[in-house]
Amino acid sequence: MSNPTGISADKIPRHIAIIMDGNGRWARERGLPRIEGHRRGSEAVRACAAACIEAGVSHLTLYAFSKENWQRPPDEVKALMNLLDRFLAERTAEIMERNVRLRAIGHLDDLPENTRRRLDTAMEKSAGNTAMTLTLALSYSARAEITDAARTIAREVRDGSLDPDAVTEETITSRLYTAALPDPDLLIRTSGEMRVSNFLLWQISYAEIVVTPKLWPQFGRDDLFAAIREYAGRHRRYGGI
Ligand code: FPP
Repeated sequence: MSNPTGISADKIPRHIAIIMDGNGRWARERGLPRIEGHRRGSEAVRACAAACIEAGVSHLTLYAFSKENWQRPPDEVKALMNLLDRFLAERTAEIMERNVRLRAIGHLDDLPENTRRRLDTAMEKSAGNTAMTLTLALSYSARAEITDAARTIAREVRDGSLDPDAVTEETITSRLYTAALPDPDLLIRTSGEMRVSNFLLWQISYAEIVVTPKLWPQFGRDDLFAAIREYAGRHRRYGGI
């Protein structure tokens, strides 16, 4: 068994979703500005993505910026957008080298124009990559996503291309931003908070949840592997016995 997690390949989650929380607390505990926590948080993003590839995870989805996060002080919002810019500028080469496909979900039109352009370029460039899909949730809200899907379905019914009696769970799934992704098997949240915070509400219906007290900037390869081992030890029942 060569998997570095010590877990056999068939027990590795196909899709891990992460609520990266605790950047601000990490900084405060050290007497640093909040943005330094976010900067360290973006380094943790890189380490975590690399560890997922190592473990053979095929989809990683990260909650990088919520629709609600626009309400933070303008300086912090600006700093987070700059970090995203820098991440794209500095990491696209590594994304290509590691054969990672970059995607994004959320209201991407809300992003500053230059950030959006960089994102589009990185997504187009990496569209054919196959080792892992890294999806960034940006200006994302699960309720907005479900509302958008409902609006799409309503239009299709109005236009006569969809019969209301033919609407199934699959009809909704296929109209979410995540239509091309499998549902997350494992949802990780850092910093000990027991909340799902409007993240992938439809898609996590049967996900196993692991909450770690570690703050996001402290979350590393060993923590990811520990979460995978915890997941592998769970018995998924999907409502059965
Ligand atoms: C939560 O910490 C984290 C965020 C709101 C943003 C996450 C962003 C990054 C990890 C950096 C940029 C991302 C990429 C993809 C380059 P918090 O500020 O809510 O922490 P707190 O709850 O301790 O205040």
